[in-house]
Amino acid sequence: MTQLFSFGLGVGTHNQKQEWLEVFYPAPVLNPSAELAAVAAKAAGYSEGNQAIALNAAQVSQLAADLASVDAEQAAIAKSFADSKQPLVATFLADDSAPNTTPEAYLKLHLLSHRLVKPHGVVLDGMFGVLPNVAWTNQGAIDLAELSERQLQARLSGELLDVDCVDKFPKMTNYVVPGGVRIAHTARVRLGAYIGEGTTIMHEGFVNFNAGTEGPGMIEGRISAGVVVGKGSDLGGGCSTMGTLSGGGNIVISVGEGCLLGANAGIGIPLGDRCTVEAGLYITAGTKVSVLADNGDVVEVVNARDLAGKSDLLFRRHSQTGAVQCRTNKSAIELNEELHKHN
Ligand SMILES: CC(C)(COP(=O)(O)OP(=O)(O)OC[C@H]1O[C@@H](n2cnc3c(N)ncnc32)[C@H](O)[C@@H]1OP(=O)(O)O)[C@@H](O)C(=O)NCCC(=O)NCCS
Repeated sequence: MTQLFSFGLGVGTHNQKQEWLEVFYPAPVLNPSAELAAVAAKAAGYSEGNQAIALNAAQVSQLAADLASVDAEQAAIAKSFADSKQPLVATFLADDSAPNTTPEAYLKLHLLSHRLVKPHGVVLDGMFGVLPNVAWTNQGAIDLAELSERQLQARLSGELLDVDCVDKFPKMTNYVVPGGVRIAHTARVRLGAYIGEGTTIMHEGFVNFNAGTEGPGMIEGRISAGVVVGKGSDLGGGCSTMGTLSGGGNIVISVGEGCLLGANAGIGIPLGDRCTVEAGLYITAGTKVSVLADNGDVVEVVNARDLAGKSDLLFRRHSQTGAVQCRTNKSAIELNEELHKHN
């Protein structure tokens, strides 16, 4: 057997048509050892390509037995699966091509949130097409076509079916809580987010899939799909990083290390290291920016995209003229130690 890209044993939810709604992988594996791949392949009946193989009870006990001498963690998972009545799956990814099934897409989202790959580190093309839109409830994932019946059933047994959200992505923390993070409002971080150690996400913070933080950092603003925030950066309350999924350029936005996006600020260009954007200032790629010398004279006027990725810049909107200005950032921020030392 050739080297696999990824492998995961998962337990998930089917709708009444036996289609996958979601899959939970307790310990997804990136680049599994040849031995683990071979043993799992034999027990599950896998031969080649990217496949999600539904497991029956016999395959699960075979896996538990055969994996015991190869991989204690995976063996323990297989053993714990033995008594479950839930749909079980072994997902094998021979390569990192675009996901074709719901279990494949979920495995890739898990790789990101388990910090096994960085944002942009896996191919997610076409993922929206294989992720069903689901009602996420206190009774788990429910197919929207079956929701009203389940709501009625719950009411008739004197219960309330609580629908937290209706979305293609569940919240990350119901699948994994990576070490060393604080997340004040868990619904605001989607599965597929990469949250680096030492990151604090306050209530206004939001992190989309295939996006995240290197950590440590303080996130009180929105990290859109594809955006990565470097070490020691602070996203102030309600600030915005422009996404690339809709209606805009295709520049991938990023924030370097030691940056501060002020409250209600926004960026449509990538920032280098130690940059500050004044509270309330939204810089888009085409914003005309007056570049100031240390004595305050205007040196040149450029489009903000020309300053993309450059370090040690401070952007502000002059409060009297309204001109957007950029000068050397002399006071790069230091994260509040008090806030971070208890992560
Ligand atoms: C842009 C920012 C970093 C500037 O702060 P700073 O470097 O400490 O600058 P200061 O406020 O000390 O001002 C220095 C000088 O620049 C001037 N200045 C500052 N901002 C200005 C503006 N927008 N227009 C004109 N002049 C301005 C000040 O008046 C002062 O002038 P002076 O020397 O003549 O008195 C700050 O205003 C800011 O927006 N911080 C973001 C904080 C934030 O939102 N944190 C997240 C919380 S959730």
